[in-house]
Amino acid sequence: MAFSVVILAAGKGTRMKSSLPKVLHPIGGKPMVQRIIDTVNTLGARSINLIYGHEAEQLQQALSHNAINWCLQAEQLGTGHAVQQAVPNIQDDEDVLILVGDAPLIKPSTLQQLIEIKQSADLALLTVHLDDPTGMGRIIRQGEQVTAIVEHKDATQAQQQITEINTGMMIMSGQDLKRWLGQLNSNNAQGEFYLTDVIAMAAEEGKVIKASHPSSAIEVEGINNRMQLANIERAFQFEQAQQAMTQGVSLADPHRFDVRGELSLGQDINIDINLVVQGKVSIGSNVKIGPNCLLIDCEIADGAVIEANSIIEQAKVGPNCTVGPFARLRPGAVMHEDSKVGNFVEMKKTVLGKGSKANHLTYLGDTVVGEGANIGAGTITCNYDGVNKFKTEIGDGAFIGSNSALVAPAVIGKNATVGAGSIVTKPIEDDTLAIARAKQRNVTGWTRPSKK
Ligand code: UD1
Ligand code: CA
Repeated sequence: MAFSVVILAAGKGTRMKSSLPKVLHPIGGKPMVQRIIDTVNTLGARSINLIYGHEAEQLQQALSHNAINWCLQAEQLGTGHAVQQAVPNIQDDEDVLILVGDAPLIKPSTLQQLIEIKQSADLALLTVHLDDPTGMGRIIRQGEQVTAIVEHKDATQAQQQITEINTGMMIMSGQDLKRWLGQLNSNNAQGEFYLTDVIAMAAEEGKVIKASHPSSAIEVEGINNRMQLANIERAFQFEQAQQAMTQGVSLADPHRFDVRGELSLGQDINIDINLVVQGKVSIGSNVKIGPNCLLIDCEIADGAVIEANSIIEQAKVGPNCTVGPFARLRPGAVMHEDSKVGNFVEMKKTVLGKGSKANHLTYLGDTVVGEGANIGAGTITCNYDGVNKFKTEIGDGAFIGSNSALVAPAVIGKNATVGAGSIVTKPIEDDTLAIARAKQRNVTGWTRPSKK
């Protein structure tokens, strides 16, 4: 049966102590509510209704690329009142899956199962057993049959002993939902319109109520404060680490591995501690990554070695290249196969040709380096005059002596050699040696000044 989704996200999230709406706090680099929307989108919902109450502008901006119905709940009068705000969008003959906006780890398979058990019931609930159910709505059963949900604050002492709780996620037909919402009242401990009261209404009408459970309680854990945010983040990251290991990646410590984006992986990859991945990153087979690296929107080809403390952003590292330790590849850096970038080398909009090396203390910007070139320690391309940027070309097999400044626009020919300490301001032809530094002058018999 066709179904629509209602996501409850109008709560203020006061305990986050944040100017960012709670549901926009990221898990794995993505707003938590976006994760839920993405999950729902894999299930083929007819429409998604997001119930919001505060910070409309921030929410709508952050979620602007989603096709969702925005339902304002101007006053937070309870979860039942929240769902009521979506009623104009809900059809009688569809099912309505109600979710909460602050439990981002919910799995598609868990929701799929909930939708499936609804096919043979009138109402299906997602419940879970918790060691400490304090504060949660308790599932009341008579025998096996679910007959009601009682909120913690309204529960008798005996009911508070029940460890099966309401996750807040449930599904029923649009027609039933609308009828039941119309019968809600706020005669309870919190003076709220409780969505959970519909369960008793369903039971009284003799409806079939079924419950299913997530594979793990973490899936339904809501985030109310920053401790819980961090907990859920760690659980999410550990899951990604497990996925990576399943695919043939060795992780020195699966608890120190963070993917805040999309990571595609080859096999036999070795990753040391504290890798952070952001955006879209691909890592080929037989790649080795040292400790403390940051990879942002980049491609690392097969057999590459990324040494400790390297940062690679919007760059491509070719097959069997070596990067770092302490290297920084900035946007537009491209390393062709077997090339090397060593410690304290920064590259921006620069192509390093096959087998070329820049091993130490170098800045290459807006530069194309041919094949088999050697860029000596302390080489700087002076690509910027304070207003405009200029290009540098370095031919195949060129040798740039240490501590040279290449003032762009600069052209250095094939197999050309630059003497150490040169400031290159003119083009250098192929197979030519350029030395552009003050001549050495020796003063013989020089005596050092003595203290007066
Ligand atoms: C609710 C359930 C409880 C369940 C618990 C699971 C009710 C009455 N109680 O508890 O049985 O165990 O969730 O976490 O439904 N919200 C709105 N508008 C409102 C109130 C809440 O949009 O007026 C949203 C919140 O943003 C949140 C969700 O609904 O995403 C749940 O609200 P919250 O106050 O956290 O849950 P409880 O009422 O404590
Ligand atoms: Ca509440």
